[in-house]
Amino acid sequence: MGESLKADNEARKVAIVTGAASGIGKALATHRIHKGWRVACCDIQEDAGAALVAELGSNAIFFKLDVTDYDEQAKVFSQVWDKWKRLDALLANAGHSDRGSIYILNHRGKTEIPPKPALLSLKACYESFLYGVQLAIHFMRMNDVPGGQIIATSTIASIHPHQTFPEYCGAKAAINQFVRTAAPILKMKDHITLNAVLPGIVATGAVPQASLDATDPGHLTAVGTVVEAYDKCLTQPNINGQLIECSVDKHIFLSSPELGNGDATKRACTVWEPLFEQKHGEKSGLPGAIL
Ligand SMILES: NC(=O)c1ccc[n+]([C@@H]2O[C@H](COP(=O)([O-])OP(=O)(O)OC[C@H]3O[C@@H](n4cnc5c(N)ncnc54)[C@H](O)[C@@H]3O)[C@@H](O)[C@H]2O)c1
Repeated sequence: MGESLKADNEARKVAIVTGAASGIGKALATHRIHKGWRVACCDIQEDAGAALVAELGSNAIFFKLDVTDYDEQAKVFSQVWDKWKRLDALLANAGHSDRGSIYILNHRGKTEIPPKPALLSLKACYESFLYGVQLAIHFMRMNDVPGGQIIATSTIASIHPHQTFPEYCGAKAAINQFVRTAAPILKMKDHITLNAVLPGIVATGAVPQASLDATDPGHLTAVGTVVEAYDKCLTQPNINGQLIECSVDKHIFLSSPELGNGDATKRACTVWEPLFEQKHGEKSGLPGAIL
């Protein structure tokens, strides 16, 4: 390999994109390729994923992956590492809304205990995100320059309740709170930034036609707005722990909620440092941590 080709190869960043076979994930993967990155496109949909990478060329590889399976995710991360020897970004985008009904409206009048809920939305949105975060931390530590970027696709439904899919709203809200909570430590200890983007309604296969028909076209969020929010996080390392609402063509950086009862609420939230070492094996090192 010539020197310039080698330099070019070294410079080319690597992303893992989950839920890459369609909708927002497909747009994210395609955009990264156009930016010169190498992209591991992961999805449960094998045919659509294979068709995408055929379109994207040799810098894209498809991995059939169910993100709810930790071992499967670990295998993909390992294969990406073996192939490209770096991991710059995890775009944790896979997810879906409720597949069961926690309201059990059809169980009225029955005396037996209702079946255990499958919680597939919780698993696909939140558990799998935490699996990805842990694996990303592990591999990003091994980068020549340790560190990287993790971004999740959350949703505006995580802030403003959508009664139709309460499990999904809770799962995505959990992503938000995890992002705000873990971002300062990840940045300080491992040079990893962590953010979430919260799209409004984006015209993808996940949205029923009737819902799209009921939405004023001027209120739809362009997929490009979501891609640009990801771009902001990837290009501005000072953006960390942020929830970025993507609405129509706008990015709104959401503020944290106000303290309900001033100093009393603040103390209740900031006196947990003594447990940090017990739980994680070393001090947090956060400036201003209260003992
Ligand atoms: N479309 C919207 O209006 C909207 C709004 C806010 C947030 N979102 C979020 O954006 C993300 C992408 O959704 P989309 O609208 O592009 O829908 P989509 O259905 O087009 O794409 C989701 C992709 O995730 C994949 N996927 C689902 N479960 C998976 C699993 N267990 N493992 C691996 N892949 C899996 C699907 O196969 C699909 O390709 C989701 O997290 C969704 O919750 C969508």
